[in-house]
Amino acid sequence: MTARHIDPPSGKLGVLLPGLGAVASTFIAGVLAARAEGAAPLGSVSQMAHIRLGTKDESRNPLINEFVPLAQLDDLVFGGWDPISANALEAATAAGVLEGQDLGSISRELEGVVAMDAVFDQRWVKRLDGVRVKDIESKWEQAEALMDDIERFRNENGCDRLVSVWCGSTEAYQEPSAVHESVAAFEAGLKDSDENISPSQIYAYAALQTGVPFANGAPNLSVDLPCMLELAEQRGVPIVGKDFKTGQTLMKTLIAPGLKARMLGLRGWYSTNILGNRDGEVLDDPENFKTKETSKLGVLDTILQPEVYPDLYGEIDHVVRINYYPPRGDNKEGWDAIDIFGWMGYPMQIKVDFLCRDSILAAPIVLDLALFMDLAARAGESGVQEWLSFYFKAPQGTGSGEPEHDLFIQQTKLKNTLREWMGEKPVTHSEAG
Ligand SMILES: NC(=O)c1ccc[n+]([C@@H]2O[C@H](COP(=O)([O-])OP(=O)(O)OC[C@H]3O[C@@H](n4cnc5c(N)ncnc54)[C@H](O)[C@@H]3O)[C@@H](O)[C@H]2O)c1
Repeated sequence: MTARHIDPPSGKLGVLLPGLGAVASTFIAGVLAARAEGAAPLGSVSQMAHIRLGTKDESRNPLINEFVPLAQLDDLVFGGWDPISANALEAATAAGVLEGQDLGSISRELEGVVAMDAVFDQRWVKRLDGVRVKDIESKWEQAEALMDDIERFRNENGCDRLVSVWCGSTEAYQEPSAVHESVAAFEAGLKDSDENISPSQIYAYAALQTGVPFANGAPNLSVDLPCMLELAEQRGVPIVGKDFKTGQTLMKTLIAPGLKARMLGLRGWYSTNILGNRDGEVLDDPENFKTKETSKLGVLDTILQPEVYPDLYGEIDHVVRINYYPPRGDNKEGWDAIDIFGWMGYPMQIKVDFLCRDSILAAPIVLDLALFMDLAARAGESGVQEWLSFYFKAPQGTGSGEPEHDLFIQQTKLKNTLREWMGEKPVTHSEAG
């Protein structure tokens, strides 16, 4: 197989984060700590995982980071926008994810990541009161102001390339409408300040127009819209989304494929969460929760295929609840009560109680997405990067088929994509391979 041409990752890579809250500040702090103290970037596939090449007997198993030409941690520069946090140190302190002792030595650098004023509209996030907001009414002019921010950031920091990862709040639920049907309709909508255009869409538009790949960590539509697909293809820019796969959904996509692999039936899956961070507060509003609920509910159906296995998965009660409970902060607790059945229909139960840390699980995903989206851009990719579905609760697909939700198939797809780009054979795990 011939390797694809990939431009080398020379110079600096700017990582732009709309939303400088818990996830974004934890991500930046972890990279700074890895740089300063050599702390292992735990949870990051791009940094920690090996990839097998060739047959089993060849014993070729390099680190992904040594196999594909990724930007290195030392070459990353960070920026972002936020309507509340003034800088990444303030965001990290307010989020309370990391202990003071872990922030001490990097606090100056964190403070240096100053938030740019946001494009923000409280109509989409009722629970937040934005203060550091661009004083511009017209949505078209808001998009232009974001494009100016992006170019200023690029020049001031001497960046060779940029990527953006949406780490902003989850917006109120929305169905796509006429204004999202094409780039022309969307641009006309920006000029009319159409009420169906949300802030995250304005960031996405500004990023794509300036040639910056856009990954969407929240369940908002953002780049999951026909106009954004068209724009991404027009501008030759990679996009991906949506909603980081962490916590409870990560568990779900670990357990459900296992049940299905052994042909065990599922009758119901009741998931509930308590969390007390700003994200939990935003999701306490029913409109914002609906966006998250839709993203979380899709997972089981696509993994279990009830249409193919009606006896096993034809009648599932799947319920997801999130309760805002301030004492827990970012340290969420997610319970799952899973009702399964086996041989001769006998019922069994599985209980999961995951005391996780949301931002600790999300931060390495932000790093991997930034590095892999930059790689995709240098490899000449544009449009939806389905091979990165591994990182998302509600992956955006290409074509008419449903994107894959099973974490292990997603992992194979990710690694095989890297193998193909580098001119190596895909690994099939057959007897010969
Ligand atoms: N932590 C996880 O495990 C996880 C998993 C999946 C998805 N997410 C999503 O990632 C996002 C970030 O999560 P978080 O825990 O950091 O939340 P957070 O509330 O701590 O941070 C979000 C930040 O976005 C800012 N913001 C809101 N509207 C904005 C706008 N228009 N422009 C710029 N900034 C804006 C808020 O002020 C806030 O600081 C949320 O949408 C969340 O649902 C998180």
